[in-house]
Amino acid sequence: MTENTGNDEDTLYDLAVIGAGPGGYVCAIRAAQNGLKVVVIEGRETLGGTCLNVGCIPSKALLHASHQFHVASHDFATLGIRVNKPKLDWKAMQAFKDDVVAQNVKGIDFLFRKNGIDRITGWGRIAAPGRVTVGESEIRAKNIVIATGSVPATLPGVEIDEKKIVSSTGALSLPKVPKSMVVIGAGVIGLELGSVYARLGAEVTVIEYLDRAAPALDGELARGLVRALKKQGMKFVLGAAVESVTREKGSLSVAYTQRKSGKAGAVETEVVLVATGRKPFTDGLGLEEIGVKTTERGQIAVDDRWQTSVPGIYAIGDAVPGPMLAHKAEEEGVAVADILAGRAAHVDHDLIPSVVYTTPEAAGIGATEEALKEAGRAYKVGKFNFMGNGRAKASLAAEGFVKILADAETDRLLGAHILGPVAGEMIHEIAVAMEFGAAAEDIALTCHAHPTFSEAVREAALACGQGPIHA
Ligand code: NAI
Repeated sequence: MTENTGNDEDTLYDLAVIGAGPGGYVCAIRAAQNGLKVVVIEGRETLGGTCLNVGCIPSKALLHASHQFHVASHDFATLGIRVNKPKLDWKAMQAFKDDVVAQNVKGIDFLFRKNGIDRITGWGRIAAPGRVTVGESEIRAKNIVIATGSVPATLPGVEIDEKKIVSSTGALSLPKVPKSMVVIGAGVIGLELGSVYARLGAEVTVIEYLDRAAPALDGELARGLVRALKKQGMKFVLGAAVESVTREKGSLSVAYTQRKSGKAGAVETEVVLVATGRKPFTDGLGLEEIGVKTTERGQIAVDDRWQTSVPGIYAIGDAVPGPMLAHKAEEEGVAVADILAGRAAHVDHDLIPSVVYTTPEAAGIGATEEALKEAGRAYKVGKFNFMGNGRAKASLAAEGFVKILADAETDRLLGAHILGPVAGEMIHEIAVAMEFGAAAEDIALTCHAHPTFSEAVREAALACGQGPIHA
């Protein structure tokens, strides 16, 4: 255990946070800003958790770099830029990714120092309320926040070796770009990392159990995204259960059964990426021994103040129910830090944006059309295609659409779904509007700069009422 607290073992902290991912480190910073004495216990040598070390950030670096490679290879000629055929330097691309991670890790180190947060490197175990052990040492704190995140869910009979059969962690650091890759699971990880390797020249086949990709997204958006990714060369086998992955001479064979027809199929491949979801990581915390209750799905059960069944022990992020998203964990971290400082806090779990960072990007907030139908809600749909948006055309990015869902009677915004350029940025205009309880007309009446991608949001809002101008 590395200790860099500068405190003796008699220190009584206000708060001990276990786990320094986006949930834990943000909670620690906010708690320190609130005047609490905070210690963070993290098993990794570096701060930032899965998201920063082997998740959101390195994958975005590879998505950005591989997108530039794709643009240089496919779009430069159209844009009037003549270059020799771009050549991939995979080692340099990996170095770029590693440097991005290192810079961000340093940033959190700095923030911890700035906010006077103590840090202990080692795996924490809760011995009792108010007591966390790390190896031989014991930390005492009035409150404990568990922010231990999640790990990849495994698939029966498919053993991840992080070399040929990889999780997202291994997929971020493959020694070379494989000739072929089978992705099991068309969720966020499968689509993002699958598209990285497809852009770099791998033949990518995605096999998905459900009849649709990206189950968390609005169905129409997901279908549009799959269409776009197919155009980029990715293959999809939907409605198919993977039965086994067997090692052949020098390659792997992924066998699956089409769920409806019962037809069997197989794909030969160099690398398999298992992206079938994640599960809460609570190993070694000693939860059972101290009576912290978990759900059937292994998540830590919490009340509306994120307190577990044991007073003084809280839990946030991927380890508790809700979408496994870094920004959801951050929100909960801030809320708990405020609650512990005696303030009121609230997270609106209905308004957590979700983004898939492919090209085009897919982003959604609020209700999907499927959810509204299921709830029997009367709603109207306003849609606008990026083909009608001048800025998108000028940027060779006119694929996709904005879809706004509003209450049929009151016009109040219920949800929005964007497939297109910078969708993950544009979604926040609607997030803010929804936080304020706005109607589609409020967006329609707001002047949007021309020419911007965001005009498509306004046009979709207009489509909920009088009608769009450019369609
Ligand atoms: P996911 O839950 O998004 O998708 C998993 C997919 O695998 C589902 O479509 C599921 O139907 C499919 N599946 C499950 N078992 C299967 C089987 N045996 N054969 C074929 N398909 C199967 O999980 P994913 O992509 O692994 O991501 C894990 C978590 O990380 C998610 O909660 C996701 O939201 C989060 N994440 C978020 C990102 C973002 O916000 N951009 C990026 C990466 C991950």
